[in-house]
Amino acid sequence: MSKAKFITFEGVDGAGKSTHLAWFADALRQRGSDVVVTREPGGTPLGEQLREILLNQPMNIGTEALLMFAARLEHIEQVIKPALHSGKWVISDRFSDASFAYQGGGRGLDWDKLSQLEQWVHPDLQPDRTLFFDLPVEIARQRLRSSDNTRPNNTSLDRFEQEQADFFERVRAGYHKRVRQNPLRYMVIDAAQPINAIKQRLEEIILLF
Ligand code: TYD
Repeated sequence: MSKAKFITFEGVDGAGKSTHLAWFADALRQRGSDVVVTREPGGTPLGEQLREILLNQPMNIGTEALLMFAARLEHIEQVIKPALHSGKWVISDRFSDASFAYQGGGRGLDWDKLSQLEQWVHPDLQPDRTLFFDLPVEIARQRLRSSDNTRPNNTSLDRFEQEQADFFERVRAGYHKRVRQNPLRYMVIDAAQPINAIKQRLEEIILLF
């Protein structure tokens, strides 16, 4: 297999990316790769504190974007770059595409402002590949509702998950815009397929690496 890569997983809430990410990381490990699994917002002690605030505390849209990128800067410097430099694969559950999709698409924050933040925070780093799990918003919302019923202690949905269908339509459109802007980086996976079909596709993707 080729040298260690930085891979990100993206999709609207309910697309199932976290399940697929765990499976994908295990499959890479079984092939002998050293893999760091991480997530955004989060991935560092400070980032996880910011995640808690971002997912639960109402705030201005600009503040939301700035805190996402603040958590990301810590994540890049403390986790992502050191791991890549020591030859480890990094698989992140979300990265900057989520800021464009959620804060840009979903909340309507100016796309250029997000591009400026991206240029500031990681001018020299982009994922080698991004696996985008795409599916109609209505299916994603059904999955989210059924997973909420099975969460322990009736854990309620977070601030983003509580948004309405039109918000997620804009998030999805935001992701599609990013895919059009960087077509070579993305692998778009039809997340409405049965889980075994998705696993097979992930197997094929791993072989490409
Ligand atoms: P998510 O990755 O879906 O975690 P879980 O599967 O544990 O719910 O939750 C993170 C939320 O944060 C998700 O709703 C998208 C949102 N988010 C943004 O709005 N902007 C960002 O830049 C990132 C990284 C996440």
